[in-house]
Order: sequence, then structure tokens, then C-alpha cells
Amino acid sequence: MQKLYAVLNNYAKEENSMRLTKKQMERLESLLSQMTTEEKIGQMNQVSSSIVGGFDIPMSELQEMIKDGRISREELEEMMDKAERDYHEEDIRAGLVGSIMGNDPKKANELQRIAMEESRLGIPLIIGFDVIHGLRSVYPISIAEAGSFDDALFEETAKMAAKESRAYGIGWNFAPMIDVARDARWGRVSEGPGEDPYLASRFARGKVRGLQNDQSEVGNYVAACVKHYIAYGACEGGKDYNTVAMSSSQLHNVYLPPFRAAMEEGAATVMAAFNDLNGIPCTVNQDMLRDTLKDKLGLRGFVVSDANAIRECITHGIASDNTDAGIKAVMAGMDMDMGSRIYLNELKGAVEKGLVPMSVIDEAVRRILAVKLWLGLFENPYVPESVISLYEKEIPAEHIALARKAAEESIVLLKNENNILPIKKTQKICLVGALAGKAEEVVGAWAMGWKVRDCVSILDGLKNAGADVVYYPCCGPEGEINDAQLSAACNEGDVIVAVVGETRAMSGEATSRTDISLPGKQREMLEKLLETGKPVVAVLMNGRPMAIKWESENVPAILEAWHLGIQMGNAVADVLFGSVNPSGKLVSSFPAHSGQCPMYYNHPNTGRPAGESKFTSKYVDAPIEALYPFGYGISYTKIKYDDISVTEQNDWLNVSVMLKNVGDTEGVEVVQLYMQDVTASLVRPVRELKGYQRIKLKPKEEKKVCFSLNKQEMGFYDNSGKYLLEDGLFRIFVGGNSKDTLMQEIMVSF
Ligand code: GLC
Repeated sequence: MQKLYAVLNNYAKEENSMRLTKKQMERLESLLSQMTTEEKIGQMNQVSSSIVGGFDIPMSELQEMIKDGRISREELEEMMDKAERDYHEEDIRAGLVGSIMGNDPKKANELQRIAMEESRLGIPLIIGFDVIHGLRSVYPISIAEAGSFDDALFEETAKMAAKESRAYGIGWNFAPMIDVARDARWGRVSEGPGEDPYLASRFARGKVRGLQNDQSEVGNYVAACVKHYIAYGACEGGKDYNTVAMSSSQLHNVYLPPFRAAMEEGAATVMAAFNDLNGIPCTVNQDMLRDTLKDKLGLRGFVVSDANAIRECITHGIASDNTDAGIKAVMAGMDMDMGSRIYLNELKGAVEKGLVPMSVIDEAVRRILAVKLWLGLFENPYVPESVISLYEKEIPAEHIALARKAAEESIVLLKNENNILPIKKTQKICLVGALAGKAEEVVGAWAMGWKVRDCVSILDGLKNAGADVVYYPCCGPEGEINDAQLSAACNEGDVIVAVVGETRAMSGEATSRTDISLPGKQREMLEKLLETGKPVVAVLMNGRPMAIKWESENVPAILEAWHLGIQMGNAVADVLFGSVNPSGKLVSSFPAHSGQCPMYYNHPNTGRPAGESKFTSKYVDAPIEALYPFGYGISYTKIKYDDISVTEQNDWLNVSVMLKNVGDTEGVEVVQLYMQDVTASLVRPVRELKGYQRIKLKPKEEKKVCFSLNKQEMGFYDNSGKYLLEDGLFRIFVGGNSKDTLMQEIMVSF
């Protein structure tokens, strides 16, 4: 116990979050001493409301009805809302539920009242929900927002999500998702911060700070739940839930860094991943959970399984039955069971048979109670009625403004031949693409608490901006081309804006695809539009990197707009008309072909790096380089880089470069610092991101940009988990993406 409290109060850096006062610790111990074994295990049990019976129309049929438009999302929502649900009130009353999932503030208050006033010890529920990129004020999906390279923004949007979460009775966000991912076939690449561990770590820090650190009022902060621990993004073949195998050095150098950063920021909870790691499912992986996450990295709160993952250990083949799965999980350091009810049904017996020591149960319960105490749930378990009614009417104007800012900063300009962009207001726009007119598509995957009335489609956004626009859906990611609409579209407008990409259902969980080119007939639509000879702008609305080789060769202007959240339409219009100069960058490499996945910039050189010679590491039927590399994005102006300088001073490398805006538009440039450890005791990546800054430059303005790289950050973990700093030759790169850079070599000694 002392170790936990020591961690609670010493590991955290002064300025950051989860800590308990002495009084809170005493209260925790007093509570624990009164709890029965059932009540202790009850705290380890998370449930979600279940639909009683079923619908008179089977869910599978309902899904078909949505697909072919026989029922709208709103009608389904209404049906779901009206369906009779079991909220497990009896179990809550008996003290057998520690957490419930949901986002209905009135229901939250009702269930909290049962827990607080009708259970024996009055321990509040911790209510968890998937608030990955906003609740009501949905902001860009993470693969987009991370591309802003704006740490302050990461924190601001998380803070907004925390406030809205508390307003809906949610004290625990199952976020941020910080899985490094290198294979765009995996649909959950949309949900995380891309392929680079350094950026993912800074993203993790910003999100944890934003969710947890404003403790001025209980309504301002929630418990973060960094996920999915560990290496879920490395699922073989980009196939969701698939097996993961990798060396210890790969794990420590690529997939653990964001979690290490999150622990340093005091993240309160962690969610274990579905996958196995080298043959041991993360759910029962003692080395990763207890030894690494808790003992080495200093988790102060608790670990929760992913949905039903404890039961799935039987399917994995690591547990023989529910009892075995429950024992293996709790002994490995899994504190809370999401949805399987195995802890509730099996652990008491296991304790009575001496198969699970009470000390293991007590540690899990301490961790859970610590988070509830830190969240202030005992003193403030309810959502004030005034707050509930506020959000029933509208969302705060400042939240809408922040969602718009986040959307604007996340847009990436990939191509702009002959300066087709920005479009002049005097030009008539012919807008095409089914996605452009569907407000509900802007929110992307893992948006769970949004209202379509808050969403601005691209069509709405253009109209709001005063565009002279005519709209023809023509074709979407699914279904056929509407030839009549397409031929009409080809005869209208001075410039064609074609919105193409994926529906929001095409990325996120369980959406792995073998083919990541534009789905459906969208490319054929583009071909027809290009035959008009008019300027064509493609606006991508998608959740993953796409294999757009043909588009990149044939479409003169391409804007990567992802799924930007409720303000997508206004942000895209701002960029199309030039009132915002795009500054976003890619955080995941775009391949020319799906078959090149996984594709990432920070790869080892190999003994035969891809080159002209046949006998080098490459595909004979694909380009050597990424179509668009990590860190890539252009703007309406041009930034020139000159005069790189690298000097060593004690524990630091001081790097500087001269930037000049040689265009006639103000712009923000994300200046990126990379390094290469040229010779080491393990082969190292050809480049590793080690710094970035957003630099605003007026037209013709010059600025010296300086980085200080701490030499401690230039090492790597070997396969024994040791962190090594090895003297030798390093290459330092600075540029506007991971490929086009200035470089300086330097000998470094540590
Ligand atoms: C899902 C996801 C996880 C989510 C959880 C609860 O299966 O893997 O990210 O938080 O279930 O919805």
C-alpha cells in the first residue's frame, strides 16, 4: 500500500495532476476496512446499460435500413433512446458496480443517487465514456488534430472535452488513444496521433494535461484513460485485434514512449489492449501491466480492460475458463473488468480458495477509490440541473470557436498546381460528392455524443462563407454514380470542388481494409470532372492515409480535410477561399498503393536501402518514396530554409536555421527537427523526429528558428530494456517535412 501512496505523491511532477491528500488517503483506508469482499470486487466491475429483449426489427436489418436510407440516424437514435434498458440498479444498490458507461446526465444522477444513498457504504460510481475527440463539440479526429503540431491546441480541446464530459455526468474519458500506428489498413489509425513516437508523446502530454490538470472546479477535469496498452497499432497486417510480435527494443523505442509520457503527466488510468504481445494478451500480461506500467512507469490510478477482453482470454487460448481468465487478469495487474462480469462472478470464490490473495484485490480497489476521491465524486456526485439545461439548449460559443480553430489548423494542403487555390468569391463553385452535403459525416469515427444540428457540412460552410455555389451529390464512397447529376455538374461553375473519401463508418474500430484507395466510383467521377477542362479541387474527407497515386498525378489541387468535427464546413470554406492559410502536416505517410503498407518514415536503412538498383529493398511495382511523407503539407505561401547550424554545448545540441517567407501571404510553418544516429549497437531509423515548432511568418519576413536538443533524448533502448547513449556520428535535419531537409553532421560524445 505504501508503495502506491508513495507513487501517488512522489512520482508526479509538482505541477501536474493526480495526487491524494493525507486526509483522502485516511478516508480511503477507512472505507476499505469496512468493505466486504463482495463490495471490494464490486468496485472492480464496470457495466454498461443493456437493451432489454431486443428490437422488433433485428439490429442487422436496422443497419441495412440505415445503409440504404430507409431509416435515418436520428430515427435510430430515437429508437435506441426509447428502448427499455437495464441499468443494473439492483447491482448498484448492492454495491456490486464500481463503474458504468454512459453519457446521459439525468440517468447519471439517478444511478449516482442509488449508489450514494441506497448502497451500504455510499461509494459513488465513476462514469466512463468514449470522448476521443470531443463530446458535443466534436473537434478533428486525432490523426488530423495531431497534424496541427500545436501542443496548446491538444490541451485546449481536451479541456473543452473534459468540461462537456462532466456536464453529461462523465468523470472518466476513455481517451486519449495514443497508439503509434504505421499501417493505414488499420481503421483505428484515424483515432491516434500517427506514426511517430515523439509526436505521439507530445500529443499524449497535451491531452492528459487538458483532461486532468484544471482542478479549480470538479466540473473542469476528468480522469484520462490512455489507451490501448500496448502496441495495438502494430496488429499484424493492419488487421484489427490481430496478434502483435516485436522485439523489446522496438516496443521500448516506438510503442511505449507515449505511455511513458502520459505516466509522467499523471494520467489517472490506462486501458489494456485487445491484442496479445509476443504470445501473452495485454489483458493478462503481468510484465507489461504490473512490472512495467505500475512499478516502473508509476501508474497512480488503475488499469481497465477493454470491452469483454477478460473473457476473450479464453478465446486467445491463454485461459481455460472464466475463473482462470479472471485470476490471470487480476494477478497480472488488471484492476477493473469492462463488461465481462467475470470479476463479479468468479473472484470471490478464487479469494476463498486462496487462489487470489486479498492483498491483490485491495490494491485494485485502492487504485479505483483513489481516482474517485481525486475526482471529488464523493463530495460532488451529481450534475447540477442548471448545467443539464444549458447543454440541452446549445453548446457554448467558445466551444464552437475552438472546434473551428482546431479544424482549420488540421487541414493539410497536399497539392495546388497553378495556384488554383485559394478560390475567388467571384468564381462560381460547382460542389460535388455525396459527403459534401451530409452534415453527419463531419464528425468521423468515435464521435459518441454529438447532435447533427451542431454539425456544419462543407456545403453549409461554403454557403455560410457567401459562396456562389451549386451542389450535385453525384457519387459517394458507396454506391453508383448518378449520371444525370454528374453531367449537370460538368456544365456548371467556374471551378469544381469534389469532396471524396470515406464515410465516418469506414474508419475506427473493426474497419481494416485491404484496399485504401478511394472507395466506390469516386475516382471515375473525378475522371469525368477532369474531362471538362475546368479547374478541379479534390477535398479529401477520410479517416486514414489513402493510396491516391492516380489522384495526385491527375487532380491539380488536393486538400486533405479528414473528418474535422462539427465546424468542418466552415473551416474547409475558410481554407478554400484563403481566409485561412493551411498549415497542417501529415502525421501518417501516404502510400502510392495499398500494398506498400505498412509505410512510415522512421525506418531502418537496411543493408540495401531502396534505390535504382534492382537488388535493393523496394517493391518493383511501386515508387520508392511515400506519395506524401510524414510531416508533409504545403501552404499558400512558400517558406525557404537556409543556414542550418549545429553546435554542441555541454548536455545540449543547439540547432538553428534561417526561415524566409518568400511568398506574399502570411503563413504558419511547422518547422521540424530530425536526427539520425548513423552507427550504433542496434540499427537505428534513418530519421527520428526530435522537435517541432509552429512559426508564423509575414510576407518576406525572415526569422532564425532555434532548437535545443537535450543529448539525453538522443539514445535508444536495447533489447534488454537498457537506455543507451553511444558516442558517434549523428546527422541533424531541419525542414518542413521528413524528406526535404537541410542537414548537418556532428560527432557527439555523451
Ligand atoms: C472498444 C474500444 C475501446 C473503447 C471501449 C469502450 O472496444 O476498443 O477503445 O474505449 O470498447 O467503448
